[in-house]
Amino acid sequence: MGKTSKPTRASQAVRNIVTAAIVVTGVAGAAYVVAQGKNEPIQPVVAAKITNPAKVELGKKLFFDPRLSKSGFISCNSCHNLSMGGSDNLPTSIGDRWQQGPINSPTVLNSSLNFVQFWDGRAKDLQEQASGPIANPKEMAFTHELAVEVLNSIPQYRAEFAKVYGDKKLDINLVADAIAEFEKTLKTPNSRFDQWLKGNKKAITAEELKGYELFKSSGCTACHNGEAVGGTSYQKMGVFEPYKTANTAQGRADVTKNDAERFFFKVPTLRNVELTYPYFHDGAAKTLEEAVDIMGRLQLGRTYTPEETAQIVAFLKTLTGEQPKLQLPILPPSQNNTPRPKPFE
Ligand code: HEC
Ligand code: HEC
Repeated sequence: MGKTSKPTRASQAVRNIVTAAIVVTGVAGAAYVVAQGKNEPIQPVVAAKITNPAKVELGKKLFFDPRLSKSGFISCNSCHNLSMGGSDNLPTSIGDRWQQGPINSPTVLNSSLNFVQFWDGRAKDLQEQASGPIANPKEMAFTHELAVEVLNSIPQYRAEFAKVYGDKKLDINLVADAIAEFEKTLKTPNSRFDQWLKGNKKAITAEELKGYELFKSSGCTACHNGEAVGGTSYQKMGVFEPYKTANTAQGRADVTKNDAERFFFKVPTLRNVELTYPYFHDGAAKTLEEAVDIMGRLQLGRTYTPEETAQIVAFLKTLTGEQPKLQLPILPPSQNNTPRPKPFE
């Protein structure tokens, strides 16, 4: 998906931070009049339009199918559990043979809105992302060839691929394409905050509104903005104070090998953030209070009172939208010639 301009260079990200700092010094303490609607830095989530229901249905099956993993036990939904906000609620994910993953699992909800995928932006879109975990030894630990062999051995899958893709050869690109189509439907419109944005003044409480005003006036929106309240830029974790972590991820610098981009991460979405604990790329912040406190100090050089933190947390909880209403897919059974799972090898 061609998303808006990509501030991929460090210089752009640094400019964004400078903007954040200006917002902080310029507006802190000033009385803030909240104008509802179009001028807000956050826009309501637009519900997904389904144009190809057969492709979405196929992608949903694949998303839930653990036979795309070596163990036959791990599906996309294992780490992006749609009953838990599209995440796994673990500090870092557990993959094949109980291996501890290197990084926190981001939510798949609204992930189509991200300007790039992964914490370090190494995949440009959902299609490019989707084939990765299948072959990742620490995630599903399979090979693309074997995944395709499994699907090809199951007549119902063959028929569904043929229905959606005609006589194109069933390969990993089609698998990724179908999964991405399903993921694009995982949007969460109509949160209480969105109802407020659309003009229903009663949709959020006075406390939650104070939290939003503080969120804006202290400069959180310099980085967390747009439809997803994030996902629009890379920013440095630790602007005013360094972030201390034992996690070895270096963010953008891992991709670009440019030391100036060390600890630049894709700003995560704050939609449904109430559901996607624990927080940060290392999953080190267990609660929203902790995450807000760290963001205030490290990103904005500001220490909130417990009361202010509570207001911002109350606001963040209004960002929980309608969760996708899914009918659990029933997966077509393996056949005698379907390669069998190897959970312990
Ligand atoms: C073992 C756990 C695990 C499994 C299984 C898994 N993922 Fe992930 N997923 C992760 C982790 C961890 C990340 C973050 C990795 C990173 O940024 O380096 C991630 C990142 C993503 C992202 C990027 C989201 C964002 O905000 O950047 C998407 C989309 C995604 N996964 C979809 C999938 C799909 C589709 C599948 C199945 C084919 C899948 N995942 C299987 C753990 C998992
Ligand atoms: C300079 C940019 C910037 C500013 C300003 C900023 N953030 Fe963040 N925010 C980030 C980045 C980058 C991350 C991811 C950091 C990481 O995982 O190491 C993040 C992560 C978060 C998370 C965790 C989300 C998750 O799923 O893990 C929360 C909650 C959050 N920010 C809230 C806030 C609040 C509240 C404010 C204002 C007090 C704020 N942020 C200000 C850039 C920013």
